Formats: sequence, structure tokens, C-alpha cells
Amino acid sequence: MPSIRPNFNKAASQYNAHAALQEEVAFRLSEKLNVISIDPIVMIDLGAGTGLLSEKLSKKCPKSHLICVDFAQQSLRANTNNHNVCANAYQLPFADKSVDFIASSLMMQWCTDLKGLFEECHRVLKPGGLMLFSTFGPDTLKELKRSWSVVDSEPHVNSFTDMHDVGDQMLQSGFNSPIMEMETLTLTYDKAVDLMRDLKGIGAQTVHNRSKSLTGKTKFKKMIEMYESFRNEGKLPATYEVIYGHAWKSENSLGSIALDS
Ligand SMILES: C[S@@+](CC[C@H](N)C(=O)[O-])C[C@H]1O[C@@H](n2cnc3c(N)ncnc32)[C@H](O)[C@@H]1O
Repeated sequence: MPSIRPNFNKAASQYNAHAALQEEVAFRLSEKLNVISIDPIVMIDLGAGTGLLSEKLSKKCPKSHLICVDFAQQSLRANTNNHNVCANAYQLPFADKSVDFIASSLMMQWCTDLKGLFEECHRVLKPGGLMLFSTFGPDTLKELKRSWSVVDSEPHVNSFTDMHDVGDQMLQSGFNSPIMEMETLTLTYDKAVDLMRDLKGIGAQTVHNRSKSLTGKTKFKKMIEMYESFRNEGKLPATYEVIYGHAWKSENSLGSIALDS
């Protein structure tokens, strides 16, 4: 299992208190269903966590059977949905062609093999099934990235995949013409440490973020000073490039049959 899982388990009890951005993105993602016509029998919330999207999906599709999947069992414990499954998104414990709709909010930026992820989703979707997701693009946390870059060359902030590359990976995994959209959301903070607290609170801190050594503390302080250069009208901005995508599995899909060339 990837090493990010303990962070999400540890953050589970405080996640919702630090997840204003995640709540807003889950809302905006669920609103996409106002203009997409579906009537799923079985749907999955992939990387469901504590259930910010799950709850909205249940309201949008009340007749559907919702299965919430996440590899962090503590997060699932906080998810009040009835049917929760602890599993890795790359190895879903579902039969081929058994699911009508997969939704996923802000999980995919943690997945290093997007093609593998989309192939697995494509496998479990029924022909004509839909995948809808949100994830982060490269401009996400650009102020934090820039502030750390002055301090050292460590990867303090995750790198995020460009919207077009996400769409390409989906296409290569067998999905029909993905529709991709992007928008920028900016949170503002009084202090940079408040942003760091939110990131830690949702389990999104990286291993390099806050070392307890003297050099680590000095570097952290310097990064905080650098962040001040972004102060605008009294507030510190934190930019999020939010990507939304959806695509259908073709009605006459051959599923996972490998063809010899
Ligand atoms: C930022 S949280 C988002 C949770 C929820 N979708 C929301 O909008 O609040 C990312 C979630 O994805 C889960 N996750 C990340 N990689 C995963 C994987 N490979 N398999 C299953 N869950 C994964 C994490 O455990 C975490 O709960």
C-alpha cells in the first residue's frame, strides 16, 4: 500500500474541519449531474474518505446503491454511508462490468499511475457507464511551491498532472472522448501556518513539510517569510487549479480483452 495511507488514517477525525475547499469541490462536482443524464443502479464514490461527496451523490441519485471505496479505513469509519469498502482504487474488489457510475473527488492527484487507475475503473464499469471526477492541476498551491523553492530544492509540494494529460490517460484507457474543464479557486489565510495546518488536517502534508531538526525549523521559518511576499489586501492566497472530467465507457466496449497485434 502507498505510504500516504497512514496520513489519511491519522487525519480522519479532523478532516472535515479542515476541508472547506474539498467540500466546495465535492459540491461543484455533484452539480455536474444536473446536466448529465444518468440513472445508475450501482454507483461508487472512489476515494470517498469521510463522505463529503458520498452524501451529495446519495441526494442526486436517491434510487441508486452507493458503495464508498477508500483505502484509509479510519476515514471510512467517519463516512456515514451504509456500504463502505476498504480497498485500493487500483484493485477494485468488483466484477467486470458491474457498476453504472464511478464518481471521485480529489483522490486522483494522489495516484501516480493514472492510466492504471482509469483502466481499473473502465474494467468495472458496465458498457455505457460513466466516470466523473475532480482532481488538481499544476497551478495548485503555486504560492507554497514558490516559497519553498527559495529555501531548498526538495519536493515539498506534490506535482499535479496537466488537464490535457489527464484526458489523454483516460482516452488511452478506453474511455470515449473525455470532457475536461478547469477552474481556479483561491482560499485566503491570515497566516501561512494556517494553510499548513489545513493541509496537515486533511492528511495532505508531504514528508518534507515540517522537519523537527534545527535546519528543518529554520527552513520552515524562511518559507513562511517568503510566503509573505504574496500578501494581497491583507490576506495570503492559496491557489487551487481544480480539474473536472467525465467520460463514458462505450456501449459496445470489449471490456478487458487483450488483442494481439
Ligand atoms: C483528499 S481526500 C478526498 C476525500 C473525499 N473524496 C472528499 O472529497 O473529501 C483523498 C482520499 O483518497 C483516498 N485515496 C488516495 N489514494 C487512494 C487509493 N489508491 N485507493 C483508495 N483510496 C485512495 C485517501 O485515503 C483519501 O481518503
